[in-house]
Amino acid sequence: MPIMRAAFASAFDADNPLAALTVGDRPEPTHPQEDWVTVQVRASSLNHHDLWSLRGVGLSADQLPMILGCDAVGTDPDGNEVVIYPVVPTPGDPRGVSILSEHFAGTFAERVAVPQMNLLPLPDGLSAIDAACLPTAWLTAWRMLTTKGRVGDGESVLVQGAGGGVATAAVALGVALGKRVYATSRHADKRERITELGATALEPGARLPERVDVVIETVGAATFDHSLKSAAPMARIVVSGATAGHEAKVNLRRVFAMQLEILGTSMGTPDELTQLLAFCAEHEVRPVVDRVVPFGRIEEAFARLNSGDVFGKVVIDHTA
Ligand SMILES: NC(=O)c1ccc[n+]([C@@H]2O[C@H](COP(=O)([O-])OP(=O)(O)OC[C@H]3O[C@@H](n4cnc5c(N)ncnc54)[C@H](OP(=O)(O)O)[C@@H]3O)[C@@H](O)[C@H]2O)c1
Repeated sequence: MPIMRAAFASAFDADNPLAALTVGDRPEPTHPQEDWVTVQVRASSLNHHDLWSLRGVGLSADQLPMILGCDAVGTDPDGNEVVIYPVVPTPGDPRGVSILSEHFAGTFAERVAVPQMNLLPLPDGLSAIDAACLPTAWLTAWRMLTTKGRVGDGESVLVQGAGGGVATAAVALGVALGKRVYATSRHADKRERITELGATALEPGARLPERVDVVIETVGAATFDHSLKSAAPMARIVVSGATAGHEAKVNLRRVFAMQLEILGTSMGTPDELTQLLAFCAEHEVRPVVDRVVPFGRIEEAFARLNSGDVFGKVVIDHTA
């Protein structure tokens, strides 16, 4: 059986996800349907999702070994440079879809199989490294700000836990959309870098100079009360993650008195990814990249993400 190199979950470890990661040989991709194609991966990027998978969140033991990775840019069978939209129709899943690495093998491999319709052209001016950051974290942030958050003219945004992949995307996109952006981080050096991106950086829990119209929440229990307190009347609090705990205490009086909307969201549509790619190419917005790691040293990339020290995206170069 032909084989390729891949990084995959071979077990689960809730406390030490790195111990559940294996880098080794896996069979070449197969096509569950006729309309699937194999893409040669050029660049991919890590998401917190990959650590959740290693902890056993969202995967079951009978799905192991599972190749990890949601994001990739690569070359299709006709030689076109393509960005992979990672949400795949999945009969049997209650959502009707799944993200690559949940039911179908992910992108941390030499090659990955996806439905043909999940391939979008890589726009001129965007490198494979930059575009590999966009399909999960940046797409999520784009939808949080636009479709879900409905951020309008003259409105302001608060981003919690601003060092993360989704959070740095929300800061950079919010600034590029011309909004007043506030962002919290626990670390002074990250707050400094947030300021360099054009946002006002604050310590977690700090009082903002104004109440905001949109809150970008990926932290969860640790920051949710501050998100509620910082929200202006009619504000939208958009939640796409709960890195620091999913059981937040919610002051319902504040929710109804201020007429707040708490909105859950996950990933985005292919049209939203197309809009995001065009926006980044046209407005010269580039992802915040923490570091680029060669595919042969992907374990280092996982260790970096797991350390919590990242500022932006950890990207894998599959050509190095
Ligand atoms: N629903 C979706 O479609 C979707 C898509 C992408 C991500 N997500 C979810 O969104 C979350 C973030 O993902 P990511 O890839 O951006 O993760 P990441 O890059 O690992 O970032 C996580 C950030 O959370 C903050 N944080 C962690 N623990 C905290 C605590 N105790 N108190 C305050 N802040 C804390 C940190 O910010 P500071 O260090 O700056 O304080 C950290 O940088 C994850 O839970 C992920 O599963 C969901």
